[in-house]
Amino acid sequence: MSDVVTMDDLSNEEILSILDDSKRLIPVARGDVHLPLLEGKVLANMFYENSTRTRMSFEAAMKRLGGSVLNFTSVGTSVAKGETLYDTMQMVDGYADIAVIRHPRQGAAQYSADAVDIPILNAGDGAGNHPTQTMLDLFTIMEAHGKIEGLNVVLVGDLRYGRTVHSLSHALIRFGAKLTLVSPETLSMPEEIVRDLRSSGAEISENSDLSGSIPDADVIYMTRIQKERFPDEDEYAKVAGIYTLGSKDMHGAKDGMIVMHPLPRVGELHPSLDSTPHARYFQQAFNGVPTRMALLCRGLGVTIPKEVK
Ligand code: CP
Repeated sequence: MSDVVTMDDLSNEEILSILDDSKRLIPVARGDVHLPLLEGKVLANMFYENSTRTRMSFEAAMKRLGGSVLNFTSVGTSVAKGETLYDTMQMVDGYADIAVIRHPRQGAAQYSADAVDIPILNAGDGAGNHPTQTMLDLFTIMEAHGKIEGLNVVLVGDLRYGRTVHSLSHALIRFGAKLTLVSPETLSMPEEIVRDLRSSGAEISENSDLSGSIPDADVIYMTRIQKERFPDEDEYAKVAGIYTLGSKDMHGAKDGMIVMHPLPRVGELHPSLDSTPHARYFQQAFNGVPTRMALLCRGLGVTIPKEVK
């Protein structure tokens, strides 16, 4: 099965193999090496929700590997005429060899995967999962620390609705990381996810104090408080801007500690942080290209050569 809807669709061995492939693909992602492994293949980029990085990095990944891309958004298409997701996916099944889907409804990626024969990569389903983001997050952590086991990863912000942290937390504990969950009570990680993480024996602590969590952190993974996920705007106003990091907050941090963020940021990372050695979020966004190249190749059954040059 080549769908990737949640991180459960990938074994630990597959994850490590994809990370290894991604590393070799960096020169191709940068455009320094021409490797048309996906020539003649077509990707359908199905975005029912806004995106900059996920959509563009999938498109860059496909094009750098010689493939073509059909871009779809819910604006300017027959979604506006009332066409269902099921019917739309029937068209995509005939037009493309693989599809990436982002949708505001949790479960939409699995629904799409069940509706068609071509492989489906989940690019974010509501407050559910974002597994291809997790692959680039793991790659970024490995790039900085050379390992995941034993690292203290501090996940900060909207842990309730944040699909990036839902997928990432599961993957991190599978590779032996310790998790510190920092959020206001109203945005804490859903109980069922915490229970699930703890049932595997993972070391997890929960608090609402970001500054107190900095000195022991190996990775701080900031997230945006997502206004669009709140059912009530007053509830959003109570927590908007609650966590911020800037260069002045880095004084007590370990030398090798990295700050990550899936982006976009809306004030939680001060620009003064950008020029510190801790900032990794722009590199993290670039890492979406080689990791998504590797995921596209896996989905299409294409082997990446052991030597890329
Ligand atoms: N990280 C991420 O999913 O960014 P976009 O919403 O811009 O795709």
